[in-house]
Amino acid sequence: MKNVLVTGGAGFIGSSFIRFLLAKYEGLTVVNYDLLTYAGNLENLKEIAHDPRYRFVKGDICDRAAVDAVLTSNEIDTIVHFAAESHVDRSILEAGVFVRTNVLGTQVMLDAAKDTGVERFVHISTDEVYGSLGTTGKFTEDTPLHPNSPYSASKAGSDMLALAYHHTFGLPVVVTRCSNNYGPYQFPEKLIPLMIINAMNDKPLPVYGDGMNVRDWLHVEDHCSAIDIVAREGRPGEVYNIGGNNEWRNIDIVKLILEELHKPESLITYVNDRPGHDKRYAMDAGKILVELGWKPAHTFERGLHDTIAWYCENTALWSRVVSGAYQEYYRRQYENR
Ligand code: NAD
Ligand code: DAU
Repeated sequence: MKNVLVTGGAGFIGSSFIRFLLAKYEGLTVVNYDLLTYAGNLENLKEIAHDPRYRFVKGDICDRAAVDAVLTSNEIDTIVHFAAESHVDRSILEAGVFVRTNVLGTQVMLDAAKDTGVERFVHISTDEVYGSLGTTGKFTEDTPLHPNSPYSASKAGSDMLALAYHHTFGLPVVVTRCSNNYGPYQFPEKLIPLMIINAMNDKPLPVYGDGMNVRDWLHVEDHCSAIDIVAREGRPGEVYNIGGNNEWRNIDIVKLILEELHKPESLITYVNDRPGHDKRYAMDAGKILVELGWKPAHTFERGLHDTIAWYCENTALWSRVVSGAYQEYYRRQYENR
């Protein structure tokens, strides 16, 4: 792992991964290849923007010629593929771009990786490809895929392509499937930042359905340390689940945020449920622990406290993000619910 291409490096997890790599390793270069969609923000990388080991290239993962050029001109040996449309609610409003970016874009990346001969292709996926759990049990790497939203269906398609390129062409692919991430720089459309920002502004907190849906939360830096170890030591053709063993009902997280910010629970507003809303996710991350020795370092209470503090201290940054087009999305998503 010497010259790393990170796709989607201007997004929430990709930018955290770039900061992580540059802080941990001296002798590598990182190229951030990102289209800068609504979710991509170079301000996420302002701390390392002038690091000589870092380079940003604006481009589309669906553009084969541009992908080939960035791979060859930077002598890339490792691809860590984050770029995707990532928000379930947006996939329910408009699925087309999810299929284009997540399925076709991944196929273009895989073809380019195959033809230029990279040493490692890390495909970043999600627990949502497994579908939804009842009140007990956890997803393992052997759980059959049963995606329920256009987002998760497109991610499942990309996972299958990635594994097929290993099986058919011997491309050294590893797939990671992680649970819900939280932490600084997350785009405010997602549950935790949305609730923090609305609470700070004394706006209603829109909880879908009865608020009893469960997610398994992991700090983004723990996700990054897991990806790093899988990139270096994971076995080609294998899938690794990543999770924090940290299940929370949505309503309990919302109440915790209100408590931390000293805001009243009367801000909670129950709204119509997300169509097809998955009830519960929980990851069995035993394989990555046993095989590669990874486990999370952050506790949720501390991590959430620090994340809330980060949003309080960085109002200028996220205020710019929530202006303009985001307001139009917010209106479309939450009006008449
Ligand atoms: P994000 O929406 O914050 O960032 C996505 C990035 O991809 C943006 O910078 C965007 O500009 C870029 N992008 C989108 N389309 C592109 C294209 N055609 N070409 C190049 N760049 C493009 O997403 P995130 O939350 O950081 O998620 C990153 C990856 O991790 C995704 O693959 C997602 O499925 C996966 N994942 C996310 C979570 C989570 O909780 N957020 C959990 C598990 C897995
Ligand atoms: O599980 C991993 C996935 O986590 C990733 O693959 C996705 O990219 C990421 O967006 C996330 O998906 P979720 O749909 O779980 O995350 P989101 O933050 O959108 O919602 C978390 C839960 O909160 C979910 O049960 C829906 C609920 N919710 C969400 C929003 C935005 C609300 O109740 N109200 C809201 O306004």
